Amino acid sequence: MTNHEIKIAFEEYDSIKELDKTDYELCLEAANALKNSHSPYSKFRVGAALRLQSGKIIYGSNQENVAYPSGLCAERVALFYWGANHPDDPVESMAVTAQTDEFALTKPVTSCGSCLQVLAEVEKKQNKPIKIILYAQQGPVWVIKGIENQLPFLFFEDRLNA
Ligand code: THU
Repeated sequence: MTNHEIKIAFEEYDSIKELDKTDYELCLEAANALKNSHSPYSKFRVGAALRLQSGKIIYGSNQENVAYPSGLCAERVALFYWGANHPDDPVESMAVTAQTDEFALTKPVTSCGSCLQVLAEVEKKQNKPIKIILYAQQGPVWVIKGIENQLPFLFFEDRLNA
């Protein structure tokens, strides 16, 4: 028997004001994006903003549905929009934030497993890691570079590409 350990790395900042200008601005864009959240069921608004290599910014927000599983997270709305509209303009970074009137959000909202799997596919497709910036109304900012720092055991079967 052998024990293994996998380390993941991320940066923590006290405030988005400590980020460089482009990342700071992307965070503000994510907060703007959540205004279009359709979340009457969870009342949990999530916004995502993607900065592409060209400098273009694209947006996503969570879109819920009365048939609950039909809804989609902000991250996947943005990432699928990218795939459908800008697949040749690589994603450099994605900022994600959330707001709710129901309780205080004091730490960043981390993406669900399905969003991480989609993020992995985008990184693979563009052959370039994506910088993820997560923050909430209060609490720290987390910056995570590359999917391997979020999903070290991600499913990737290269032989399915044949
Ligand atoms: N949600 C996101 O949009 N992104 C996340 O990272 C976590 C969860 C959405 C899904 C649902 O509309 C609501 O937040 C509550 O789970």
